[in-house]
Amino acid sequence: MKKNINIAVIGLGQIGNYLLNELITKKRDIELKTGKRIRVVAISAKNPNKKRKFKINKNIFYKNPLDIIKRGSLDVIFEAIGKSDGISKKVVELALKNKIHVITPNKALIAKHGDYLSMLAEKNKVNLEFEASVAGGIPILRTIKEGLATNKITKVHGILNGTCNYILSEMELTKDTFTNVLKKAQSLGYAEPGNPKLDLNGYDAFAKVRILSSLAFNKKISKVKCLMEGIENIDFKDIEIAEKLNLRIKLVGITELIKNQLFERVHPCLVNKDSYIGNVNGVMNAVIIHGYPIGESILQGEGAGPGPTSSALMSDLLSILRGNIKYPFGISYKKRKAVNVYNLNKYSNSLYLRIEVKDRPGVLSQITKQLANRKISVARLIQIPDNRKKTASIVIITHKTKEQDVQSCLKSLRSNKNILKNPILIRLL
Ligand SMILES: NC(=O)c1ccc[n+]([C@@H]2O[C@H](COP(=O)([O-])OP(=O)(O)OC[C@H]3O[C@@H](n4cnc5c(N)ncnc54)[C@H](OP(=O)(O)O)[C@@H]3O)[C@@H](O)[C@H]2O)c1
Repeated sequence: MKKNINIAVIGLGQIGNYLLNELITKKRDIELKTGKRIRVVAISAKNPNKKRKFKINKNIFYKNPLDIIKRGSLDVIFEAIGKSDGISKKVVELALKNKIHVITPNKALIAKHGDYLSMLAEKNKVNLEFEASVAGGIPILRTIKEGLATNKITKVHGILNGTCNYILSEMELTKDTFTNVLKKAQSLGYAEPGNPKLDLNGYDAFAKVRILSSLAFNKKISKVKCLMEGIENIDFKDIEIAEKLNLRIKLVGITELIKNQLFERVHPCLVNKDSYIGNVNGVMNAVIIHGYPIGESILQGEGAGPGPTSSALMSDLLSILRGNIKYPFGISYKKRKAVNVYNLNKYSNSLYLRIEVKDRPGVLSQITKQLANRKISVARLIQIPDNRKKTASIVIITHKTKEQDVQSCLKSLRSNKNILKNPILIRLL
């Protein structure tokens, strides 16, 4: 690689603008560590006149990012626009075809088009790096690709969305409702002000799970959504009950191979308050890797925000500047295997059920009878009466049981007039 490296930053939002400042202020450090002299020769955003946190040089501003690539003499581009398709895909595609290295924090793009884009990178002998797309500043992808390169990884799980983790922690701490805590998260910049849906419904964490699966198991990216649930329906009541049971609710992303079938899921989990994951609070992320011979290995840190994300983007840049073309997913796209997906109907686990009922004699036995009919065995049962409303919350924790059986039991209970609301189901970790 030549000594002088020309760089473009496309997208100057929260991430791109902070990164641009890092590139300018850490030039000397980069030269010291890699022997390469970097120069930002082009930048792009939608609005050239927008007020940004760090000043930009308008002389190198391009309204259309594709013109940057067409201008030639570029070595590396950062794509920080953030769409799963459209202009983000076009920029990355065109850059790779023009033999320009690409670095992106865009999990939506990689989770959707990673297979195709990695094939393009490989064919054009350039790097496609996306460390910042999973768990922000935590170097999880490089850890799997390099640090644990010869381990046989069987499972990766963790807290992959800081927004959800903040909301759940804060609900427990302040005893406030989901809606109020979401507003607070938005005012603090932890949740998107306009549309936080993709964080809250599990989509963001699921994209990260897909990227982790591909790297951990050397598989193509799965197109099937095994199980994805967010935190929008988490009621403060369940947080309160969980606390009494020495449990805590966390949104967890899990990917594992069960008899060579890929089981990817994101959903709220009840975890033990004393467990490691039960104590990862606020906006923190944590990823736990299970492998052989490494055993269990844990990485924790800030999962989002301009600082941690730029740290990962800079590490990608240094990796490129130090030389060598690497396979974006650790091994060649030709060797990555197609995915066999786990059949969700086989899934069995210990489950938490909360059923709101009229407080009348015989109601509990109607419920336990239905459970017994389906051979669902109960590990714990608690009845919490509300004398004022003449209602009760029946909380059941099952032994490991087929979720399909429990779902069908809950369905049949819906016609019972003593049951006041749709029952709540939360999986235990
Ligand atoms: N924010 C985080 O904490 C975080 C953490 C990890 C990963 N990421 C990922 O980083 C990426 C960027 O996120 P962000 O939070 O920085 O988003 P953002 O603040 O919304 O910034 C998006 C940028 O893209 C620019 N843009 C939009 N359409 C464009 C177009 N057609 N041509 C050129 N530029 C265009 C916008 O221009 P204007 O500024 O002129 O509107 C803006 O500068 C996403 O993939 C996200 O998933 C973010």
